[in-house]
Amino acid sequence: MRRPVIAANWKMFKTTGEAQAFAEAFLPLVKDAQEVDVVLAPPATALSTLSRALEGSAVHLASQNVCAEEEGAFTGEIAPRMLTDLGCRYGIVGHSERRTLYGETDEQVAAKAAALLSHDVLPIVCVGETLEQRETGQTFAVVGVQLQESLAKIPPDRAAQVVVAYEPIWAIGTGKTATPEIAQEVHAMIRERLREQFGAAGDEMRIQYGGSVKPANAKVLMGQPDIDGALVGGASLDPESFSQIVHFEDGDAA
Ligand code: PGA
Repeated sequence: MRRPVIAANWKMFKTTGEAQAFAEAFLPLVKDAQEVDVVLAPPATALSTLSRALEGSAVHLASQNVCAEEEGAFTGEIAPRMLTDLGCRYGIVGHSERRTLYGETDEQVAAKAAALLSHDVLPIVCVGETLEQRETGQTFAVVGVQLQESLAKIPPDRAAQVVVAYEPIWAIGTGKTATPEIAQEVHAMIRERLREQFGAAGDEMRIQYGGSVKPANAKVLMGQPDIDGALVGGASLDPESFSQIVHFEDGDAA
């Protein structure tokens, strides 16, 4: 059985004070969530604050990005061991905003994922197609290449620790969620590729869906056989709505 992993990607939202207030409101709401891994990825500036706030809880901390280098003259970058130092258990790499706005390539994503893993930070590797690619029938080809290249440096004996996040770009922040059928179709393809690349570990790897996940659609998405959790942007900024997602509850229809 794969244990679901539900992660909040706060992107560039929340100061340290806002992160602290979130934690104070959120932790009591998810105390009973023992069947899922709950993860918060704040901006780097709030990692330290949240690290302290989450102490003693079962909620994990994650970074939104990382530098693949160990240390050195890389102004503005953050090394994997600095994330371990702050108690990060997970690290998001290759988010579509990093790929499109900052030109991150699959090769860079692969190096980042491997660097995280070598410091025992579990990578959440994001893949996903644009609307144009979907409409021209390229979804499987595009996602297949992203997967193969972004996971190229993962040692097979560590593959089970890697999380893949399928996030169709047309669904991110648009309110347009993929239907459970569309999402499952791609997740099944991803599972097949993971099996081809990593053998039995492919069945243990968790595949998150991301893109306009909210309380009203979390349950039906998570009910799909190859959807093992969610990567949540907008709806993770509010403690109440994120806790409903963590509980797979049907919230108010949105
Ligand atoms: P969204 O973002 O939930 O706001 O669509 C998801 C993501 O970008 O990870």
